[in-house]
This record gives sequence, structure tokens and C-alpha cells, in this order.
Amino acid sequence: MELSPEEERLLESDNETVRKCMEILVALGKIYGAERLIKIKSAQISGISYKNIGDAGLEWLESLDARVVVRSFMNPAGMDVERWSEMGIDRDFYEKQMRIIRALERLGVEVSLTCTPYYLDSPSFGDHLAWAESSAVVYANSVIGARTNRESGISALASAVIGKTPFYGLHIKENRAPKVLVLIDRDADPAMAGYELGKITGSEIPIVDFGRGVSKEELKLFGAALAASGGAGMFHASGITPEWRDFEIPDERIRIESSDLKSDCHPDLIAIGCPHLSLNELREISRLLKKYGKVKKEVWIFTSRKILKENPEIAEEIEKFGAKVFADTCMVVSPATERFECVMVNSGKAFEYLPKLRGVNVVFGSIRECIRRAVE
Ligand code: F3S
Repeated sequence: MELSPEEERLLESDNETVRKCMEILVALGKIYGAERLIKIKSAQISGISYKNIGDAGLEWLESLDARVVVRSFMNPAGMDVERWSEMGIDRDFYEKQMRIIRALERLGVEVSLTCTPYYLDSPSFGDHLAWAESSAVVYANSVIGARTNRESGISALASAVIGKTPFYGLHIKENRAPKVLVLIDRDADPAMAGYELGKITGSEIPIVDFGRGVSKEELKLFGAALAASGGAGMFHASGITPEWRDFEIPDERIRIESSDLKSDCHPDLIAIGCPHLSLNELREISRLLKKYGKVKKEVWIFTSRKILKENPEIAEEIEKFGAKVFADTCMVVSPATERFECVMVNSGKAFEYLPKLRGVNVVFGSIRECIRRAVE
């Protein structure tokens, strides 16, 4: 890989963190055949829940000594940093989780604690990024037309410190070409369609025809599920996403019918907000609660701290009906979900990961179905 004199100097830096970050990027570049590094606009660092990284990860983060040089975001943590005890999180976990957050903050990473950083500060078409959260990666590539590979928490942090990423994969236009055309039944739920498609196509990039108009929130749910069950870093949607016309339509075709994945477990928790909810989605939940009334089950709603701070009335409206609105975390990365037997979600990603990571059963439904179930 060709390095500029400045990049060569960073490889020899007296600062061990900077040197190690540079070594990580060079090693990645060599593995993936990148010719050079390119500048990034922002970084997003995942894997920050104490539940996931434990004491070893915490101590490693605390040993780092550098500052990020681009805007850098934190993915959700293992708890709401203000209402952690209401979630059933114990003090030891709280203290360890806060040490992780403080260690990253000391490096200059914003305490955003969300998987939807594009609601905080949207990248622009063509921006190069180093984002790690798979649902955010898919959204940035597909819906916005920015360019990022699916980074790991460590490579995203290395990129945040250096301000660059190796130029390979989805940073290169020709690698963004779709390999399969997918016709989706117009009645299919986009989250479930993404979940089923990912199981068939794995990491291949699809071009999708939804057969109807879809909202950005539906694209968010579709992409998150596709990335979780398969591993694709992006998709195109005919007539909708910004690069769909830029490539030839592939010959291979798949049809996804509307499916019924509702298992028969009876939810003792209804959890909505994977990925974190937009203000529009919160308003929809508020509207549905006004229509259907008070919830009779535990209902947890997840969004970003920023949306809650800027719209304090929305959480009040929702909580009047007995649901709880949490920020900074989610049902998948928080251990709080583990004490439930069956969790109802509107997310294909949570549907994929909750049984594997939190050991709970899951049942799927749209936001409307979730709220209707909550009031039964
Ligand atoms: Fe976000 Fe948690 Fe889902 S980090 S995408 S809400 S698993």
C-alpha cells in the first residue's frame, strides 16, 4: 500500500495509540488490497456495551491515549445512562459501562450512544465514512449514498484517530453494483422481507423492487434486517435510492412473498426501536397509543438521547400510556432484556439477534401490531 510521508510518520509515532491505529489501518489495507488510505468525514464506533466487551475491552479502552481527528459517534451502550435502574441494571454494570463511555469521551468521541447517527448529522452523498454499526452502514450506503465498509469497533476507532480508512470495498463505485434483482411482494413487511432476503443472498448487494412507495424508516428497517441475517453492506431500491440507476440490472432474480413469522410465544416485553426510532416513528407510536389506550404489558421504546432532548413532549405523551421511552441503549445490547421470556419486536435485526445474544424467544409484528398486542 502506498503511504504518504505524513502517514509513514504516523507509523513511527512516539504515541503508541496513534502508532497502533495506523498499524491497524495498514494491516487492513494490505488484507483487502487497498492501494492507499482516504480521508473520512466521520467515524462511528460500535461494540461499546459492557455486556459485549467486558473488563478486557474496558481496560484496553482506558489504556488508549490519543484524540480523534474527525467527528466520531458512539453506538448504543448496555443501558439508559439516566434510567438504568428502571431497566433493572445493577450498580456494578452501570459503573463499568460509564467507565467505557468516559474512556471513549476522553478520546473525543461524542457520547451519542445511538445506532442512527444520520439523525444527528447526516452525511452527504459521496462522503467517505468509517462506520461500524451494520444497520447504520447499510443506511448510509444505500439511502444516503455515502460510502463506508462494515468496520469493526476497533477499525472504526483507528480511523477516527487517524482520520482515514483504507480505500477498498464499498468506497469504490464498481464494488457497489447489485448482483441480484429482488421483487418484493407489495404486502410484505419490509423488516421481514429484509430478514428473509439476507438469509438467501448473504453479503451480495441486491437491487430491490418494493412494488410500492416506502418510507425512509421502512428502508432503515429493511436494511438493518438484511445486514443482520445476511451481511450485505448496502442495497439499491428501484426508483428510490440515489444510485439505483448507475448499474446494469442483474439477470438473477428472486421473489420475496409476504411472510408470517409470528411465532406463538406470548410476549412479556414489547420492544420497539431497533434501529433507534426517528421522531416520525415516535409520533406514530404516540398516535397509536392515543387510539388504543393504556398498555397492559411492559413496553420499551428506544431512541437517541438527542431526539428525546429536542422533543421532550414526545416521551411524555408516550409514557402517559404506560410505555417507557429509553435512550442510549437497545433491547439487543442491554442485558436488561434477559429476564423476559418472550419479546415482541418490529425489527428483523432484533428478531435475528435477541435469541442468539439475549437467550429470549421472539415474536414479530409491525409497530401497529406491537401496540395492539401491548394493550390486550
Ligand atoms: Fe441499533 Fe441495537 Fe438494533 S444498536 S440496530 S437498536 S441491535
